[in-house]
Amino acid sequence: MSLVLLSLAALCWGAVPQEPTIQCGSEAGPSPEWMVQHTLTPGDLRDLQVEPVKSRVATEDYSVLMNISWILRADASIRFLKATKICVTGKSNFQSYSCVRCNYTEAFQTQTRPSGGKWTFSYIGFPVELDTLYFIGAHNIPNANMNGDGPSLSVNFTSPGCLDHVMKYKKKCIEAGSLWDPNITACKKNEKMVEVNFTTSPLGNRYMALIQNNTVIGLSNVLENKLTRTSVVIPVTGESEGAVVQLTPYFHTCGSDCIRRRGIVVLCPHTGASSPPDNSRSVLGGWLPFLLPALLVATWVLAVGIYLTWRHERIKKTSFPTTALLSPIKVLVVYPSEICFHHTVCYFTKFLQNHCRSEVILEKWQKKKIAEMGPVQWLTTQKKAADKVIFLLSNNVNNVCDGTCGKSEGSPHENSQDLFPLAFNLFCSDLRSQNHLHKYMVVYFREADTKDDYDALHVCPKYCLMKDAAAFCTELLHVEQHVSVGKRWRACHNRCSAL
Ligand SMILES: *[C@@H]1O[C@H](CO)[C@@H](O)[C@H](O)[C@H]1NC(C)=O
Ligand SMILES: *[C@@H]1O[C@H](CO)[C@@H](O)[C@H](O)[C@H]1NC(C)=O
Ligand SMILES: *[C@@H]1O[C@H](CO)[C@@H](O)[C@H](O)[C@H]1NC(C)=O
Ligand SMILES: *[C@@H]1O[C@H](CO)[C@@H](O)[C@H](O)[C@H]1NC(C)=O
Ligand SMILES: *[C@@H]1O[C@H](CO)[C@@H](O)[C@H](O)[C@H]1NC(C)=O
Ligand SMILES: *[C@@H]1O[C@H](CO)[C@@H](O)[C@H](O)[C@H]1NC(C)=O
Repeated sequence: MSLVLLSLAALCWGAVPQEPTIQCGSEAGPSPEWMVQHTLTPGDLRDLQVEPVKSRVATEDYSVLMNISWILRADASIRFLKATKICVTGKSNFQSYSCVRCNYTEAFQTQTRPSGGKWTFSYIGFPVELDTLYFIGAHNIPNANMNGDGPSLSVNFTSPGCLDHVMKYKKKCIEAGSLWDPNITACKKNEKMVEVNFTTSPLGNRYMALIQNNTVIGLSNVLENKLTRTSVVIPVTGESEGAVVQLTPYFHTCGSDCIRRRGIVVLCPHTGASSPPDNSRSVLGGWLPFLLPALLVATWVLAVGIYLTWRHERIKKTSFPTTALLSPIKVLVVYPSEICFHHTVCYFTKFLQNHCRSEVILEKWQKKKIAEMGPVQWLTTQKKAADKVIFLLSNNVNNVCDGTCGKSEGSPHENSQDLFPLAFNLFCSDLRSQNHLHKYMVVYFREADTKDDYDALHVCPKYCLMKDAAAFCTELLHVEQHVSVGKRWRACHNRCSAL
C-alpha cells in the first residue's frame, strides 16, 4: 500500500516541476560567485519591501524581526538566478551590519509563477531595534561582474518606537508600559475638582497625573504598587472640561522616560456631589446641632429611666462611626543626624506607634526609596502623604548611642545623610503660612532651646516629652482640626523626665 503511494508521489514529482523556494543562511563575506566571471547573469530585483513583524522566537528581545520581501523581474534572465543576497546596516547608537544569502532551491523554468503573478519571496530575520534607521540592500547572484554596481536595489527603513502596534511587544517597550492599559477616565466634579480614575501597573509604584488645557491647571502624585483601579481627585485652577489628563508613570526600568498616557476630562454624571469623606463629615456636622435640642426636649418629656436608656443607646450608636474613622495617622519624623538614633528616635517612634495610633515614616527605614527618588522628591512625597511632620530635637548628643530600631534596613555604620537641614529648608515656606502650619510640630526630649539655625521652628507648637505627652497625643490625634498656633505653646523645662 505504502509502496503504491510512494510510486504515485514519485510520478507526481516527475510530472509537475517543483516551484523554487528559498533556503537562507548568513553569508558574511563576499559570495563565491563573485570571484568568477559570468557572461550570463540575472537581472535586478523588481521590488524590495521591509516591515517589522512580531516573531515567535522565545528570546523576548528579538521578538520583532524584519519581514523582507522581494519581487523578481519577469524576464528571460531569471533562468540564471541562483540566489539573492540581502544586507542590512543599522544606524542607531552603534552601527550593525549583516547579510543573508537565500538560495533558490530550483532553477526558474518560467518568468512568472505557474499560477500567474510575479515571483515573490520573503525572508524573516534581522532583529529590529527601536527607532533605528536601517539600509537594506539586495542583489541577485551571480552578480553582473566584479566591477559592476553594488546592490541592485536598496530601501531605507526607520523602525518605529514603542507605540507601534508591533514594536510594543519588545521587552524594552513592555517594561516601559507599552502593554499597560491604564484605561483613564476623568471627569469634572465641580469648578475646583477633577476626578481621575486609572488602572495602575505592577511595573512601578508612582504616577503623576497632570491636568492641562494650555497650561497645567492641576497635578497630583499617586503611589500604588499593585495592579488595581485607583481614583484620585485633583484640585484645578482653571476650566477643566475638555482638558487633557496626562498620566506619567515612573516604572522601575524607564524612570521618568516611560510611555505617557492621555485622557480627556468630561463632565461627571452628577456634578456638584462632593467627595464621600467630606460628605460624611458634613452630614455629621449638620445633624449634631439639631440632635442636641431634640435631646433636651426629650429630657423634659421622657421619664428619667427611659431617657437614660435611650441616651445610652444613642451614645452607643453614635460612637460607631467615630471608631470607624480611627485610622492610624501618618507621621513623618525628621531629626538631625547628631541625635542619638536608638535611644531617642526609636523610643519616640515606639511611643508614637503604641500610644498615639501613628504610622511613622522614618528616613532610616526608606534608604532605598530615598536613593531611588532623591531626597527632595522623597521628602516632598512623604510630606504630602503625612498628616503631621514632627521635627524631633534633642540635646542628648552621645557618641556611643547609635543603632537601629524596628525595620532591619540601615546599619549603625552606614552614615545616613542628614535630611534634617534639607527638610527644614524645604518645609520652611509652609511654616510661614497659617494654612500649612498646623501640619508641623516640634518635639524636645531635653531642653527647649531651638538652635539659632532653625529659628523658623519657633512658630510650631512645641512639646516636651514625656512631660507634655498627653497634650502632644491629643494634638496629634486631632489632625483634622486646625489648631490655633501658640495655644499649645509651652516652655519645656530643663528637666524633662529622663528616657
Ligand atoms: C547557498 O549556496 C551556496 C553556493 O552553492 C552555498 O555555499 C551555501 O551554503 C548555500 N546556502 C544555504 C543556506 O543553503
Ligand atoms: C511577510 O511579507 C510578505 C509580503 O508582504 C507576506 O506575504 C507575508 O505574510 C509576511 N510574513 C509575515 C510573517 O508577516
Ligand atoms: C536612505 O537614506 C540615506 C541617508 O539618509 C539617503 O542618502 C538615501 O538616499 C536613502 N535611500 C532611499 C532609497 O530612500
Ligand atoms: C475602562 O473602564 C471603564 C470604566 O471603569 C469600563 O467600563 C471599561 O470596560 C474599561 N475598558 C477596558 C478596555 O478595560
Ligand atoms: C471613578 O471611580 C469611582 C469609584 O469606582 C466612581 O464612583 C467614579 O464615577 C469614577 N469616575 C470616573 C471619572 O470614572
Ligand atoms: C484653559 O483654561 C483657561 C483658564 O481657565 C481658560 O481661560 C481657557 O479657555 C482654557 N483653554 C481651553 C483650550 O480650554
